Parts: sequence; C-alpha cells; structure tokens
Amino acid sequence: MDVTIYETATEASRALARRVADTLRRTPDLVLGLPAGRTPVETYTELSRLHSAGEADFSLATAFLLDEFVGLDPSHTGSFRRFLTEHLLSRINLDPNRTYSLNGVASDLDVECERYEETIAATGGLDLLLLGIGVNGHIGFNEPGETLVARTHRVTLLEATRLENAGPFGGMASRVPPEALSIGMGTILRAETIVILAIGERKASAVARMLRGPVATTLPASFLQLHRRVEVYLDRAAAAAL
Ligand code: GLP
Repeated sequence: MDVTIYETATEASRALARRVADTLRRTPDLVLGLPAGRTPVETYTELSRLHSAGEADFSLATAFLLDEFVGLDPSHTGSFRRFLTEHLLSRINLDPNRTYSLNGVASDLDVECERYEETIAATGGLDLLLLGIGVNGHIGFNEPGETLVARTHRVTLLEATRLENAGPFGGMASRVPPEALSIGMGTILRAETIVILAIGERKASAVARMLRGPVATTLPASFLQLHRRVEVYLDRAAAAAL
C-alpha cells in the first residue's frame, strides 16, 4: 500500500480532496464510493470549496454511499445519507439521479442490498473508493469477526461501533440502531482504486494492524493488503504506531 504521512489532519484532508479533484478532471464520469464519519468532513469541506472555485466538477460523476443504518430514513439526523447531504452533496453538483445510497427503511432489506450490489456492477464498478477506518478496523460497516461477507449485506453492529457512532444520537449508544446495511468486502476489493484516510491517535493501532498485521477477518481493513492499488493518507498521529 502506498502510504503518505502528513504533519496535520488538515494537510492530509486537503491532499485527499485535491486527489479527488485531479481524478475528476481526468475522468469526469468517475464512479465514487463515499464514506460518512467524522474523518472525511474536512476533505468534503475542501472538495466543496474546490467545486465553488471551479476546480471540481461532479456533473458527470456517480456516487455510492457505503452504508446506512437500518430503520433510519434520510430525514433522520443520524442517517448517513443526511450526513453526506449536509457535508458534501448539497454543496456540489452531483446529479441526484446518480447519487445512490442504501435505503435503511426498505420493506425487504435483503432485496435492497442485492439491488445496490447490482446497481454498482451496472455502472461498471467503483473507480475511486474513499474509506475511513473504525477504531476496531472496520471499513464501511464490515465488522471484525470470524467471517466477512463479500456482497452488500445487512450487519449487526458491535457495541463498540454503536458507541463510536453515538454522536448524532445524543451520545447514547443504546439509541444507535443495532443494525446497518453496508457494501461488502468483495464490493470494496473490486474497486479500481481505494483511498483510505485516517486521522488521530485513536486510529493508530488499527492503522498499524491494517498495514503490517496478518490479513485477518478480526481486522477487516487488513484485507486491503490484497488490493493492488490502495493509497493511505495519514496524519502524524494516526501513523504513531508504524
Ligand atoms: C463508521 C462508518 C465508516 C467510518 C468509520 C469511522 O462507523 N461506517 O465508514 O469510516 O466508522 O468513523 P469516524 O471517521 O467517525 O472515526
């Protein structure tokens, strides 16, 4: 994996935003995968700024959000779709008809997951997949465990993950939905290029295990070692255990 360490979170975030904008210039019909979470917020702010400055045109691009909580519609403050709308989608010119997210309130969630997997495939797959990493090494909502699931699927969240995501739920893990829908490990590994951003010392251990540890389902991000084109953007703190 191609690792770059930046002095600050801001530098890492801006570099990643420029990376996306440069790729868009070369490939206007780019198919993007976009994560929620606190980590990409500064990248999204910078991407929005680049768009306003005429340096990032999303008009021909397509985007797939990585995951969503079961039971939340996009109007809920904890919904990832709403989060992406606030931090990025409302500020750039992505066509809403080419902005896809998993519907956490679909009547049949298995059908919803299969529909999503097929829609990604029908676009030709993800060209540039942006990822964050959970403290426990999850990517998307592919949680550590005995097994991983290849395709887009329904997942039971670990308690630690619910706690990590408690912010928009009044800080209470018990209010975070116990289940989510997520693109799968195979969906991730089929992306043409993967770019992962990690910021802060809390991520240092997961980052070290992702890069240096054995490939293991107990640290889902370690599977990125199997991919031939992964770029890792770190700030100094997230690189502390390397
Ligand atoms: C969330 C999301 C991931 C995200 C990760 C880290 O639960 N499902 O896509 O990368 O956890 O979140 P944060 O950036 O807030 O630390």
